[in-house]
Amino acid sequence: MTANTPDTVAVGIDIGGTGIKGAIVDVTTGELLTDRKKLPTPEGGEPDAIAKTVLDLVDSLGEIPASASVGVCFPAVVRSGVTMSAANVSKKWIGFEAEKLFEKTLGRDITFVNDADAAGFGEVRYGAAKGRGGLVIVTTLGTGIGTALIYDGVLIPNAELGHLEIEGVDYETKAAYSAKEREDLSWKKWTARLQKYYSTVEKLLSPDLFIVGGGVSKHYDEFLPQLDLQTEIVPATLRNNAGILGSACLSTIRATVLKDILQ
Ligand code: BGC
Repeated sequence: MTANTPDTVAVGIDIGGTGIKGAIVDVTTGELLTDRKKLPTPEGGEPDAIAKTVLDLVDSLGEIPASASVGVCFPAVVRSGVTMSAANVSKKWIGFEAEKLFEKTLGRDITFVNDADAAGFGEVRYGAAKGRGGLVIVTTLGTGIGTALIYDGVLIPNAELGHLEIEGVDYETKAAYSAKEREDLSWKKWTARLQKYYSTVEKLLSPDLFIVGGGVSKHYDEFLPQLDLQTEIVPATLRNNAGILGSACLSTIRATVLKDILQ
């Protein structure tokens, strides 16, 4: 292996509001090398409790090669390792040195990124947008709306387009999958909101491809064909593994860049 070649084995950890998932992966092929492990997110989503759960999860993965890098993703804006917002976790994360906490708890360096950025990057590397150039916008429809912008394979982090204000409201509160469930909306009524959402994003950014992820994407036939857009729109393919694969892959890229800088 040369100094410029990333190690092919990495760990990906995906922290969500309800569950924390992880696996050891082969970043060359995008295959999981272990079973995907999942632990519930501790009640209240406080930093120390989440860090402890991440440690338990990493321990449960078995032996991790010394050279493996670790990527962790989290549902918040992440700037230089600091969480700047908190969606569905404790407000203590706002302005918090999150990367440092995880590094201290795990006793190793990590790469720390937003959850939608990780999932989006995973889809571009291994999933629905593999090999696609131009502007790919990946959206995850879950408790919130996560968004990732990837241009010619390069991630532009922290897009946060889920919070676009449409008709005077933060539209995540209307068009996330949680809104469909909370308001018991039919597919038709929810699709009308998605139409408004994707048309607005399309008008602002003229993407080449939309990818729709999140658990509900497995029911894509209920809503995707009904959307009238100029942009191609397809379901995500990596499902629950997108965040794990994307954060693992981003960690190897960072490790390579650091190796280059430190040579
Ligand atoms: C948060 C994003 C996150 C998304 C999906 C939004 O509410 O602001 O940072 O990516 O939910 O978890």
